[in-house]
Amino acid sequence: MKTIEDLGDLAGQRVLVRSDLNVPIKDEVIGDDGRIRASLPTLVKLAKAGAKVIVTAHLGRPKGQPNPAYTLAPVAKRLGELLQPEGITVRFATDVTGDAAQTAVQDLDEGEVLLLENVRYDPREESKDEAERGALADELAALADVFVSDGFGVVHRKQASVYDVARKLPHAAGGLVLAEVDVLKKLTEDPARPYVVVLGGAKVSDKLAVIDNLLAKADKLLIGGGMVFTFLKAQGHEVGKSLLEEDQLDIVRGYLNEAGDKIVLPTDIVVAPEFKADSPATVVAADAIPADQLGLDIGPDSAKVFAAEVAAARTVFWNGPMGVFEMAAFAGGTKAVAQALTEVDGLSVVGGGDSAAAVRQLGFADDAFGHISTGGGASLEYLEGKELPGLAVLEED
Ligand code: 3PG
Repeated sequence: MKTIEDLGDLAGQRVLVRSDLNVPIKDEVIGDDGRIRASLPTLVKLAKAGAKVIVTAHLGRPKGQPNPAYTLAPVAKRLGELLQPEGITVRFATDVTGDAAQTAVQDLDEGEVLLLENVRYDPREESKDEAERGALADELAALADVFVSDGFGVVHRKQASVYDVARKLPHAAGGLVLAEVDVLKKLTEDPARPYVVVLGGAKVSDKLAVIDNLLAKADKLLIGGGMVFTFLKAQGHEVGKSLLEEDQLDIVRGYLNEAGDKIVLPTDIVVAPEFKADSPATVVAADAIPADQLGLDIGPDSAKVFAAEVAAARTVFWNGPMGVFEMAAFAGGTKAVAQALTEVDGLSVVGGGDSAAAVRQLGFADDAFGHISTGGGASLEYLEGKELPGLAVLEED
């Protein structure tokens, strides 16, 4: 893949950058701004090189329609605050490639940054039709001279601003994409052992392909989060009102048979009668979840076992919280795993928007971990061994 340096002198050049600025926003307030911060080094580098920096990005899933609930305006404001100490001005265009975007590009000075409105307001961005995507990519390409792909979190999406536009302009991978790929390569090519993978999150169906692939590669697969109940049920235990994916039971049974003791499940669970922060929590054995309760975290004994496995590993990849970490009574498992990751003598990788948000919300500093990936789905698909379209296209001339 070409790097920014390969693009030559960028002074005065219009550089279109695809960033992943998809951050949680509630009532116009940004929750975890990790992805915005992670995008800064590339933007600063380009602006300092004298480029006119035009950023395209998405927020949420507005389904091809302009919708104020998904505007990138609060992100532009935050970007402006973060770049202000660098003396870099951030502007915002109120459409994707229309009059507002074109005028803003014309008015943009060297060393300034312009963020375009949510690219997913345009239905062509996510279209399955190559010609439709190509038409939007043409409009994006017309705004710029070169393209830098730096939104690692979206490289698994074959979308106009990620994939098609790279075919229309001289292109390079930004520093964030290069750094993420570098770390994920270490996880897939000869990882130092023991190699422990911790998977959590709600749905087993989202993680099937990665479980399949990692069963062959990792030494231990620790399972927590909502998906654990499908595993417990597959072992023949009752799970009360806990989250359950009945249609995945056969597949999960297959994994349990195949994996032997490679898959580690919790032996105790924190349960409560309701999915509420103040619902009275108790700890029960994982094979004795009462019918009127639901599991909301792994229990303290399991948290200790998981933490010990993690801390003893030389390579760890973690995706998905162990419980409902947003509620204090159900944050213990996630906290214990996060703490253990900070103690790993080797490479520790936190992957995924939720896990990254969890460690920050629980008060851990970013540099306590080897690497916090900005990619949720992207890092999982990379580990599944899939070809990611947004990376493959950067390898083309
Ligand atoms: C993410 O949040 O993982 C990325 O921004 C991609 O978003 P998407 O899953 O809506 O394509």
